[in-house]
Amino acid sequence: MINNEMSISPSIPPSNCPNMAVNIGGIRMKNPVTVASGTFGYGEDYSEYVDLNELGAVTVKGIRMEPTPGNDTPRMVEVYGGLVNAIGLQGPGVDGFIQNYMPFLRKFDVPVIVNIWGKTLEEYGEVAAAFDGVDGVDGLELNISCPNVKEGGIAFGTDPSMAAKVIALARSKTKLPLIPKLSPNVTNVAQFAKIAEDEGADAVSLINTLPAMVIDIETRRPVLSNVIGGLSGPGIKPVAIKQVWEASQAVSIPIIGMGGIRNAQDAVEFIIAGATAVAVGTANFTDPTASIDVINGIEQYLIEHDIDDVHDLIGSVVV
Ligand SMILES: Cc1cc2nc3c(=O)[nH]c(=O)nc-3n(C[C@H](O)[C@H](O)[C@H](O)COP(=O)(O)O)c2cc1C
Repeated sequence: MINNEMSISPSIPPSNCPNMAVNIGGIRMKNPVTVASGTFGYGEDYSEYVDLNELGAVTVKGIRMEPTPGNDTPRMVEVYGGLVNAIGLQGPGVDGFIQNYMPFLRKFDVPVIVNIWGKTLEEYGEVAAAFDGVDGVDGLELNISCPNVKEGGIAFGTDPSMAAKVIALARSKTKLPLIPKLSPNVTNVAQFAKIAEDEGADAVSLINTLPAMVIDIETRRPVLSNVIGGLSGPGIKPVAIKQVWEASQAVSIPIIGMGGIRNAQDAVEFIIAGATAVAVGTANFTDPTASIDVINGIEQYLIEHDIDDVHDLIGSVVV
């Protein structure tokens, strides 16, 4: 039984601490835990609860060229096993993000992964180019899988030739580590992971939310103004585990696994399935310190199982 509430015993000398550091396509993370884009803002709001220096990386909410208002409310609804959101990728745009949020993030000793998207193929290229060489930005997560915007997003991530084009374009525009974020809304996620690897991606992340809909039975109207949203939270974890496992069979680039992680046991399951790192998402809303508990709990698991290096756990599933 793993107890992710337990902290590491201070009596254990540092030399007994297992190696937690991982490298995600050139991004050196001190431990394998980041936060999922869109569930941790731009870091500042959560810094009241979490010492950002303790995270393996901070992944920020999606950014496109221009400021974006997002969808009308209601745009989030709780359901059994998670929540359905249709925020619509609200954001300050590239310039707004660099001016207003990067100065804060630069104060920390933590890699920053910027999640990017565009309404058109060309815009994906422009945003990738705009971040190339920006001080403090360590990697780009390419969101080709958002189900709740009318343009861009999932349209790129569910068509193999579009996915190849957008990844190749972004690759040509930046030297930063590039991490396409794959859609779970495909029959063969391994195919898309392979496309990403072939087009020069340094890692892949998965899964994004699953397209979903909620209806108010009194009004018979959809609860979300956008009608359709994306399901996240504990209910999607088995889907995510399966897809991470399938993707890991197809590629040799590292995988950031996410989808319903609430505690260290969930995170360890992703790592055993084949993820080199994990991201804590919806759990941040109910427990803003969930990511730190996950870090401590993974370390505890390694100690309790006499594992010296987290790499010995990656992809160790016995099938
Ligand atoms: C409110 C909300 C906003 C999100 N915004 C983004 C986003 O801007 N870009 C993105 O790639 N994924 C976004 N996601 C998807 C998450 O990063 C993650 O892939 C997904 O929620 C699954 O993980 P979870 O079940 O742990 O939340 C968002 C998810 C939620 C719940």
